[in-house]
Amino acid sequence: MDNVLIIGAGAAGSVVAKKCAMNRDVFKKIHLASRRLESCRRVQAAAKTPIDISQVDADNVAETVALIQKVKPDLVINMALPYQDLPIMDACLEAGVHYMDTANYEPREEAKFTYKWQWPYHDTYKAKGLMAVLGCGFDPGVTNIFCAYAQAKLYDEIHTIDIIDCNAGSHGKAFATNFNPEINLREVTQRGKYWKDGKWIEIDPLSISAMIDYPDVGPVKSYLIYHEEEESLVENIKGLKQIRFWMTFSDNYIKHLEVLSNVGMTRIDPVMYKGTPVIPMEFLKHLLPEPSSLAETYTGKTSIGVIFTGVKNGKKQRHIIWNVCDHAETFREVGAQAVSYTTGVPPVVGAMMMFKGHWKGQGVFNVEQLPPEPFLKELGPQGLPWHVRELKADEQGSLFAVKT
Ligand SMILES: NC(=O)c1ccc[n+]([C@@H]2O[C@H](COP(=O)([O-])OP(=O)(O)OC[C@H]3O[C@@H](n4cnc5c(N)ncnc54)[C@H](OP(=O)(O)O)[C@@H]3O)[C@@H](O)[C@H]2O)c1
Repeated sequence: MDNVLIIGAGAAGSVVAKKCAMNRDVFKKIHLASRRLESCRRVQAAAKTPIDISQVDADNVAETVALIQKVKPDLVINMALPYQDLPIMDACLEAGVHYMDTANYEPREEAKFTYKWQWPYHDTYKAKGLMAVLGCGFDPGVTNIFCAYAQAKLYDEIHTIDIIDCNAGSHGKAFATNFNPEINLREVTQRGKYWKDGKWIEIDPLSISAMIDYPDVGPVKSYLIYHEEEESLVENIKGLKQIRFWMTFSDNYIKHLEVLSNVGMTRIDPVMYKGTPVIPMEFLKHLLPEPSSLAETYTGKTSIGVIFTGVKNGKKQRHIIWNVCDHAETFREVGAQAVSYTTGVPPVVGAMMMFKGHWKGQGVFNVEQLPPEPFLKELGPQGLPWHVRELKADEQGSLFAVKT
């Protein structure tokens, strides 16, 4: 296996294509396709080695099948939007090729983060001898793999998982989102949710917060939100009692979000305007800066990781596993900010795992179901070094004090 087709030449997809082009020992043939050929042309011009490009509307299964039949890839990496997951999975099935993505399917009319639409593809992928790898970005993605590693190496039983995600960077704009604005705002404005003792517990949006001490960054106020990897980790981490996901948002971000929600600009249902149906969230996306445009002036770091509690050999343990990524450094390397970089590098490493035979299987898999060690061995050399250490008794007091 050495031939990859990447669909989606946006902020993160550009990183995938550029990084593949820096690893020609693994990726002999690279093809990037997107809705607009001009998006592909920009990436092609900036890639270190030659890549091929095409225009494709990935909502159209027949068009995608025709492209796959022309390119004959071993793997399709879907870096378009969650709306395209199912059509691209269908196209891969029809054309007989492996599939990978970084975000679960969402219907346009409902902001609902669940694997309930993609997991049922397991039997058909299996029957065709194909593999679909879901959620291979950073979170979901690397965070799931940190959990698989902790389960295999650090614990007999993991009891609690807190995924912590901080962007301590500054893009200098009054308001912007770090990845696709529509997807980002749908994620943040939905009700929060966490899992405890076998049950999902819903909370009002951004109603629970804690000061979390992020490696290399320090304490930052973080909000409990729902994130899709919780759904698969609950299934795949044995003995788990609680899982929560925390993300930092500046006061400025929350102020803008509140105003936008209050006036109806984050609605995802059509509103009639002068006889034309307009979806306010889609219009808002049109007005906001493209995430890729933030890269040039971005300063600061992302610090993302997982905090575990559990037992090993009858002793209580606490660990943190994390990565820190610098916006200016990733811009120098691939012309992208750190949020796009941390999203784009993991699918490249995941594709390497499949091409080198470390990740094998037939059916649909979340990344924590695949061997974590070869992936983690390659992650640092590809630009995302990770670290693990035990927590001292007095660390992360504010987080552990939140009674949920
Ligand atoms: N797991 C993680 O850690 C993580 C983190 C952040 C984001 N993500 C996911 O990563 C994906 C990409 O995010 P992003 O920030 O790169 O978004 P983005 O900049 O908006 O890029 C998405 C690209 O998809 C392309 N596209 C949209 N509809 C298409 C269609 N019908 N056919 C073909 N191409 C289409 C667009 O192409 P054109 O430019 O050609 O119009 C766009 O450039 C999203 O699914 C997002 O949810 C995952």
